[in-house]
Amino acid sequence: VKQGHGVKGLIDLGLSCVPQPFIQPLAERIATPNAPTCEAAETIDLSQLDGPHHKDVAKQIVEAAETLGFFQVVNHGVSVDLLELLKTSAHEFFAQAPEEKAMYLKEVSPSKLVKYGTSFVPEKEKAIEWKDYVSMLYTNDHEALQHWPQPCREVALEFLKSSIKMVKRVVEILMENVGVTLEEERMNGLMGTKMVNMNYYPTCPSPELTIGVGRHSDMGMLTVLLQDGIGGLYVKLDNGEWAEIPPINGALVINVGDTLQILSNGKYKSAEHRVRTTNISSRVSVPIFTAPNPSEKIGPLPEVVKRDGVARYKELLFQDYMNNFFGQPHDGKKSLDFA
Ligand code: SIN
Ligand code: FE2
Repeated sequence: VKQGHGVKGLIDLGLSCVPQPFIQPLAERIATPNAPTCEAAETIDLSQLDGPHHKDVAKQIVEAAETLGFFQVVNHGVSVDLLELLKTSAHEFFAQAPEEKAMYLKEVSPSKLVKYGTSFVPEKEKAIEWKDYVSMLYTNDHEALQHWPQPCREVALEFLKSSIKMVKRVVEILMENVGVTLEEERMNGLMGTKMVNMNYYPTCPSPELTIGVGRHSDMGMLTVLLQDGIGGLYVKLDNGEWAEIPPINGALVINVGDTLQILSNGKYKSAEHRVRTTNISSRVSVPIFTAPNPSEKIGPLPEVVKRDGVARYKELLFQDYMNNFFGQPHDGKKSLDFA
């Protein structure tokens, strides 16, 4: 890949076959490009989250987090028009000239909050993921509006701000269910790292040879994901099979990350997932990641350990967990072995 041009740069050159660095080992290729729809993934209506039917909504959230670790939400409080703008602006960002994007490559980015690149850890991967992305770390509104790239900065910030209350509420519900009431300071510490990414999966001439994103689980608390209508986000079921989280217009996908699995002593599941490529169309997705501050200690919460009679994970500094996570390619859910 020419530094900075991304996978999109290759496709724009009119490439008709997949270059060798992107060819996945057999074990990582996706045998069933049209996985069945994941029937277990609930679509939860959040309009009653704090209304008279609060208990039913909370129960649905808890059950989804305990079983699949993935669910979708509607009436989530984020404007559906904003979701449309986000998809458009993701396409606009990647449609820019290579130089406009390359200026955000890690080595040269004018801001440590912004990073553009291809694949997850290309220097360590057996094969490179068929994906370009730009990530925008949140510190405060002022810095986001100053440093995040155009044309996404305003919409990405609005997406983050209008989702975060809902995400915190979902975390609270999951905590209450295991008998934990987090003090504000601890909650802010556990949710202290916030990042918005824009992912671009170019059309691929031979999808059977590549992957968009390899198998992994997310490292943080909860991820909120906007996906477009193309599909291809697969989650691994208990029986080892893969099923698709179907695109639903106006909905957001929420999934449990490793940190929440650790805090809950394994009660909530951080599910392995991956993304396939297609030869039909490019795909965009916009995830928001929430995770602890690097200085936060994470381990099974005392209230849960007391009830379970055993702590299933060691306590560790989130910084160490994060370094481990970013040091490994996407080839399975294994960073938890570290805890
Ligand atoms: C990811 O899990 O890393 C990406 C998910 C998606 O693009 O749907
Ligand atoms: Fe993920």
